[in-house]
Amino acid sequence: MPEVTDLVRLRAEYSDRERRLAGSDRYSLFNLPNLFTIQQRQRAILGLLRLEGLYPLNERQILEVGCGAGGVLLEYLSYGAHPARLLGCDLLPKRLAEAQILMPHLALVNADGQNLPYIAQTFDLVIQSTVFSSILDDAVKRNVADEMLRVCKPGGMILWYDFWLNPTNRQTRGIRPAEIRRLFPGCCIRLYKVTLAPPLVRRLIGVSWIVCALLEKIKVFNTHYLAAIHPVD
Ligand SMILES: C[S@@+](CC[C@H](N)C(=O)[O-])C[C@H]1O[C@@H](n2cnc3c(N)ncnc32)[C@H](O)[C@@H]1O
Repeated sequence: MPEVTDLVRLRAEYSDRERRLAGSDRYSLFNLPNLFTIQQRQRAILGLLRLEGLYPLNERQILEVGCGAGGVLLEYLSYGAHPARLLGCDLLPKRLAEAQILMPHLALVNADGQNLPYIAQTFDLVIQSTVFSSILDDAVKRNVADEMLRVCKPGGMILWYDFWLNPTNRQTRGIRPAEIRRLFPGCCIRLYKVTLAPPLVRRLIGVSWIVCALLEKIKVFNTHYLAAIHPVD
């Protein structure tokens, strides 16, 4: 069963990551390269939400599939999402418990994205942020994509943010536009290449923030895709 294999693998991967990153500030906002990467991603996402007519967020019903420890949900609260209409789920109970401590008022559930515990056509916005790249089994990815489509309202949107290239982590697999299109067949998809390669940011941010911003603008060294995916009835 792919989901059991994935659960075991992901659990091992996250405890290993915890060990490796113990005492490190790599993913802290006090870490300048990480601050650059997060702020640039937020600018891109806020711009996209406005462009797609989802702003303001407070009346929107929003779900994050694979919310992990809740970093992205916290960001959506700061963008104006209403706590009663912002939901999350994740396969790993330990990560979900961390999110729930940060946001006790949010409805977070331990669930596999392949079987979302929500009725069809519930959400205006369904988010996936670096979840598909952490799933190695093609059938699991297809099932999660189908479930995201099922719970998305007609006229709603799936927001995709994930990398297409990360040669250093063998527990993940980058996803290119052709695969995104295969996962969401028949949908209207607008793609943006974003996020300057983090190793480059780590080298250059001390030299100049502006140089990093300009390099990101030319897109050649960008490692992620941000996508607005609209189911077409
Ligand atoms: C790299 S983390 C991203 C967490 C969060 N979305 C963020 O951007 O900070 C990937 C998350 O996807 C979750 N995940 C992987 N496969 C899943 C599945 N089939 N159903 C639900 N969550 C899953 C993992 O447990 C993990 O928390």
